[in-house]
Amino acid sequence: MLIEKDTGEPIGIRTNRFTWDGEVFDPTLIKQDAVRYTVLLCIRGTERVDFFKRYGTTQAFHFFGLATAHAHMRKGVTLDMIRNLGIGTVFAKGEATSKCSQKIYKEFGFEELFNQPYATFEVDGKFIFQDTGKHKSFKVYGLKVS
Ligand SMILES: CC(C)(COP(=O)(O)OP(=O)(O)OC[C@H]1O[C@@H](n2cnc3c(N)ncnc32)[C@H](O)[C@@H]1OP(=O)(O)O)[C@@H](O)C(=O)NCCC(=O)NCCS
Repeated sequence: MLIEKDTGEPIGIRTNRFTWDGEVFDPTLIKQDAVRYTVLLCIRGTERVDFFKRYGTTQAFHFFGLATAHAHMRKGVTLDMIRNLGIGTVFAKGEATSKCSQKIYKEFGFEELFNQPYATFEVDGKFIFQDTGKHKSFKVYGLKVS
């Protein structure tokens, strides 16, 4: 988390983890519908792109969540949080649920690997994501960081 030095207010949050080939996570453990479906969306997207085979690696640095406080938006906070990982060469994977984050990944040179329109995302015969406003699709991105 990035904190404003003088006030102690949060500026931005970057949630990261390492992910690896063969990792198993059961989304049914998540009680909240919106979070569970979003995680399911991420899992399905990752399976579809065969991320680890594609890059010939067994591990990746995973951007799980990015957010900037309203007062600090459009000042490059997120670009800085993506750029300054504090580690060496890695493969990065990101799932973008919003139009804005998709633009960021694209501009940062991430490769778009998968595009799932919300309108056609189906679970057990139901179309889960309706009325998503200007955010029309979910995308999976990858990048070999050097
Ligand atoms: C998406 C979000 C994290 C961007 O944070 P930010 O610190 O304002 O982003 P930056 O200033 O580093 O953005 C740089 C680039 O991102 C893109 N971008 C950021 N906000 C955007 C917006 N509202 N609309 C379109 N593009 C946007 C632009 O390309 C921008 O470059 P520019 O300012 O030169 O045009 C922030 O808007 C946010 O917290 N949104 C709500 C949560 C969210 O959607 N998180 C991502 C989920 S995957």
